[in-house]
Amino acid sequence: MLTEYIDSTERAAEIIRMGGLVAFPTETVFGLGVDATNGDAVAKLFQAKGRPSNNPLIVHLDDGRHWARAAAELPTVAEALLDAFCPGPLTLVLPKRQIISDEVTAGLATVGVRIPDHPIARAILRTAAVPVAAPSANRSGRPSGTTWQAVSEDLDGRIDAIFTADSTTIGIESTVVDCSSTHPVVLRPGAITLEQLQQVVPQTREFGPVEERRRLVSGEPVNSPGILHPHYQPRAEVILVEVPPVGISVGVSAVSAFCGTEEFEGLHEFALAKIFGSLEDYAGGFYEFLREVDRRAFERVFVQTASEDGIGLALRDRQRRAAGT
Ligand code: TXA
Ligand code: MG
Repeated sequence: MLTEYIDSTERAAEIIRMGGLVAFPTETVFGLGVDATNGDAVAKLFQAKGRPSNNPLIVHLDDGRHWARAAAELPTVAEALLDAFCPGPLTLVLPKRQIISDEVTAGLATVGVRIPDHPIARAILRTAAVPVAAPSANRSGRPSGTTWQAVSEDLDGRIDAIFTADSTTIGIESTVVDCSSTHPVVLRPGAITLEQLQQVVPQTREFGPVEERRRLVSGEPVNSPGILHPHYQPRAEVILVEVPPVGISVGVSAVSAFCGTEEFEGLHEFALAKIFGSLEDYAGGFYEFLREVDRRAFERVFVQTASEDGIGLALRDRQRRAAGT
């Protein structure tokens, strides 16, 4: 398949309406959009990404008032979160509407709904006028794409079009909150923090690793199958370090990469190193740094774990998954 490189939101919407696959920017990461009511098109998307079919997709809408295009109902807590944070980097898991194809939700009775806060994404969604399922635009398991070039690396020749927009700003994916049962539960941390959610709905809680493990062991169904698959992994081995790795021998650092937020003695020994000025910058540039490590064929990258404030918690989660731990 010949991939078109486009910069017209009308063209993007047209391809989606015809059942094609279009990568476009959102404020978090690039998404790979497809008409969520077209089961065949959705099946093509799973193939293009190499995505396990039991991992559901998020449905994107242009406006929070249009939630009923994807969801069967909007529980009161979900309405409060929608009013407070949408458009923005938040996905609400809601009871699903019939019209959304079962391929999108991997057979679940719920659907993830997100209203992105990005002018290009919103214009495409408005013009397409169909619910658009969009996972991150990367080959399954790889770091998400935050630049159109990264998307091209993974998906050129496998999808219909790539929108050549600027790099995304937040850099890690939306917070996913399950609103389909009594209390909202955070399934995936993101730029909207647990504290922010609790300010609006105090009963919101986190689906922690303890619960994740308990369910796995007992064989209970997992709410968000996506959290079980390998994710965000470069080819290079990722080694998490809590503090800058002072004790590493020059021989090792000369063939390794490093990223973090703190300068340290020996930093210049690393063959490739990046110090980010803030947690926000770290989140924004993390995936692209991992990709650069792979482009330069490093075998190993030392990653300083992010502190747990604000977006740091979500970044830490991605770092842990990138390391496969
Ligand atoms: O920021 C984002 O959310 C980006 C942009 C493109 O919007 N999208 C994204 O999609 O990260 P994806 O497919 O890479 O991740 C979707 C996550 C997965 O962990 C999936 O399991 C979860 O959302 N998810 C989707 N629908 C769900 C549902 N009905 N119930 C529980 N989890 C769901
Ligand atoms: Mg993804």
